[in-house]
Amino acid sequence: MHTRRIPIDPANIDRAVIKEAAALIRAGELVAFPTETVYGLGADALNASAASKIYAAKGRPSDNPLIVHISRFEDLCAVASGEAARAGRLAEVFWPGPLTVIVPGSDKVPRETTGGLKTVAVRMPGHPVALALIEESGCLIAAPSANTSGRPSPTEAAHVAADMDGRIPLILDGGAVGIGIESTILDLTEEIPLILRPGYITKEMLEEALREEVRMDPGLCAAGDKKTTYSECCGGSLHVSAAPGAGTGLRPKAPGMRYRHYAPRAELIVLEGEPGRVAEEINRLVRSRQAEGKRVGVIAADETRSCYRADVVAGAGARAQEEVIARRLYGILREFDDLNVDVIYSESFDTPRMGLAIMNRLLKAAGHRVVHV
Ligand code: TXA
Ligand code: MG
Repeated sequence: MHTRRIPIDPANIDRAVIKEAAALIRAGELVAFPTETVYGLGADALNASAASKIYAAKGRPSDNPLIVHISRFEDLCAVASGEAARAGRLAEVFWPGPLTVIVPGSDKVPRETTGGLKTVAVRMPGHPVALALIEESGCLIAAPSANTSGRPSPTEAAHVAADMDGRIPLILDGGAVGIGIESTILDLTEEIPLILRPGYITKEMLEEALREEVRMDPGLCAAGDKKTTYSECCGGSLHVSAAPGAGTGLRPKAPGMRYRHYAPRAELIVLEGEPGRVAEEINRLVRSRQAEGKRVGVIAADETRSCYRADVVAGAGARAQEEVIARRLYGILREFDDLNVDVIYSESFDTPRMGLAIMNRLLKAAGHRVVHV
């Protein structure tokens, strides 16, 4: 299949392009489009055969459900069943925007979209191209991130093309996205609303809007409670965390958060600790891996970037500008792949607001290999 990539200016949307893309969605085809978080791979959410094409194009496990994207709040009722008071309060504050809610699903949503769950994930994206496409198609659009399953999510159209060329008919190229990591997912089917995936919208923001307690999925936070020695990279002297929930029986509630994900092809290891010691240890590790003939990359904050000697050193942004770090992260991981890097050592980015979301993605990309120095 030939994949066309059509530029579209979010500030001055070409209606003819949107009409063409919308016709493809109505015909049960796939269209990749920009959202404010990452690029999505869209299909008619209520058309089972269209939704199943998403799994084929991404190589995605069929039990991993999709997010239904809507352009009007009323459309929540088309896919949800039961009371939507809490969703309504959140929608007023955060939609259109980077928040996905999980609500009880209606029978109209095919299992190809819900992954066979009784609940459904819904979000109204805060991007003019995404909203125009949903509206013009007259459909609700199921859209996961437009990457091959297991690779970093695409934050620009070139990333989508790298993964989807030949697999889908159309990519709408609206330029680089604004946020760069996927939406916050909040499960409203729990008595106490539960964050299944941290994102730009934080627990504190949700609590303020709902005026009630919000919890973090303990399956996400369980990483690091069991330490195992990671002798391959550290000569047996340092410790690395095991996979999330190891030893606790806990696992993330969102099916997609259970897989190793967002991952570059290179081996990625995150180092935590006092910045001077982290730099010293990373430089030591780089030298020892280079001595084995490996190409080694480092991800560092702008402030400490010049401390490193490696084959490639990527500046993730200043620690004070966590939005920049979030926006750059996936692109950096893809760049390392393009540069054929074998091993990546990364500083950790526990920034005040988005640190949880940034570290969640970075640790998943690393398969939760963390060295504490
Ligand atoms: O920012 C985003 O949310 C992007 C853009 C394209 O909108 N989309 C996105 O979709 O990240 P995806 O498919 O890559 O991630 C959706 C996540 C998966 O982890 C999936 O398991 C979870 O949402 N999910 C979907 N429906 C669910 C449900 N009913 N219950 C629990 N988790 C669900
Ligand atoms: Mg994804």
